[in-house]
Amino acid sequence: MPFETAVVQAQPANYETPLLALALPRGALPASLGGLDKQTGGAIGRVLSSGDFSGKRDETAVIYPSGPASRVLLIGLGKPEEIDRTAIRRAAAISAKRARSLGVPRAAIYLPPEGRGKVNPATIGQAIAEGLNQGAWQYNDMKKPPEDQKPPLERMELLAHDGPAELIQGHKTGEAIGAGQTFARSIQVLPGNLCTPSYVAERARELARRHGFEITVLDKAAIIKEKMGALMSVAQGSAEEPRFIAIEYKGSDAAPVVLIGKGVTFDTGGISIKPAQNMEDMKYDMSGAAAVLGTFEMLGRLKPKVHVVGLIPSTENMPSGTAVKPGDVVTSHLGKTIEIINTDAEGRLILADALSYARRYDPAAVVDIATLTGAIVVALGHTASGVMGSDEKLVEELRGAGERADERVWPLPLWDDYRDLMKSDIADVKNSGGRPAGSISAGWFLREFVDGFPWAHLDIAGTAYTDRDDAGRVKGPTGVGVRLFSEFVLGRTA
Ligand code: BES
Ligand code: MN
Ligand code: ZN
Repeated sequence: MPFETAVVQAQPANYETPLLALALPRGALPASLGGLDKQTGGAIGRVLSSGDFSGKRDETAVIYPSGPASRVLLIGLGKPEEIDRTAIRRAAAISAKRARSLGVPRAAIYLPPEGRGKVNPATIGQAIAEGLNQGAWQYNDMKKPPEDQKPPLERMELLAHDGPAELIQGHKTGEAIGAGQTFARSIQVLPGNLCTPSYVAERARELARRHGFEITVLDKAAIIKEKMGALMSVAQGSAEEPRFIAIEYKGSDAAPVVLIGKGVTFDTGGISIKPAQNMEDMKYDMSGAAAVLGTFEMLGRLKPKVHVVGLIPSTENMPSGTAVKPGDVVTSHLGKTIEIINTDAEGRLILADALSYARRYDPAAVVDIATLTGAIVVALGHTASGVMGSDEKLVEELRGAGERADERVWPLPLWDDYRDLMKSDIADVKNSGGRPAGSISAGWFLREFVDGFPWAHLDIAGTAYTDRDDAGRVKGPTGVGVRLFSEFVLGRTA
């Protein structure tokens, strides 16, 4: 059942709904909620004066007034002076998660003026739509429904009574971004036997049909003809054929931004095989591709004045009698030769050919996104993605976009000193520099294939999926990158 959010012009006090979520700052009952509190027979005020709920960040309480809302959910926003778009998005995500677990088919959310900090109405509308979509997400298409199945959450309404024009505009943006994030998660979550390279290409085709994008899909024969030797070296061990997807949205005549997403639909490591522990998580190794396609879902809905190209090299990484071996030397699309030291360093190989392919667009900027290294999880944990690049301004632009999106990225240095890590004895470059500075050496490998455009790289190995639920986050795929790329490309329309 698709989930949607909508702006409804109504006062919270008179609104009939199975669940009314109220996001409250820390402190006393906001004066603007006096009327609603009266309606509930003073129940909201009593929860606050009891001390059971004080508005601390992520704190929640459910009360059951006699109406018109059957339930009221209080959610803490934290200190009034610390309320920003991230706090608001997070409260919205919590409300949607709770609405799901309570089993209500629809719910409403209201943010009183006292809970808005200095955030403008458009940003509030956007952040709430994003948060609702983030928190409402779930996937159980492959499970038999339980006997006591509750109705799915179909709709959440954002109540507004003042300044609705900007709020509605912001909500539309947030809903498009939320749909993009949901699209990304819907492919991320699929196991490797279903989400194959040809499946990713089919989803991209369907997206292009629905929104009228240009699309080209190269099959194995076309990839060989295009001389993508690095991509083919990864694909040659698999019974599944690789695909190379190029999708284009031309909302302006300017030079395009090219977004490249790693689309490894399952990463066993190849001959340098991975340990069995948690290997099932390697179905998420196409999360970069998902982020790029999710961004195109947003572009198709909003049709902003930007020019964006998405490139997705997609393959499995399998061990077999035809698989590439450690020590093999292959020739990339750019013409540089690569000594393959470790077949598990496959992401950088397929990205290298995509970076080289990007030259034909004469891009204004190229950003790749990839679950590239375990080392980035050691460096930044699951809190931030890594960013590196050849262009300081581009890196800073992405950092700002990530901050606004609450998909944080943090820079690692690509100093010349690290370049030597990737020197090969017999080829132009090798694909693994060993353990030290593992994320940076991967970045340097990519940089060897950047020719003539500003470039940055996002390493999302620690943020693409999460193995636990927490306040605003749902266990499983996160769709990371969609909100960041949306902020990034929409920021280039102005
Ligand atoms: N897909 C992995 C990176 C990864 C690790 C993603 C953990 C998500 C969670 C990537 O292809 C890989 O295997 N990288 C190797 C590189 C090494 C062999 C140089 C790694 O990080 O160990
Ligand atoms: Mn790997
Ligand atoms: Zn991988």
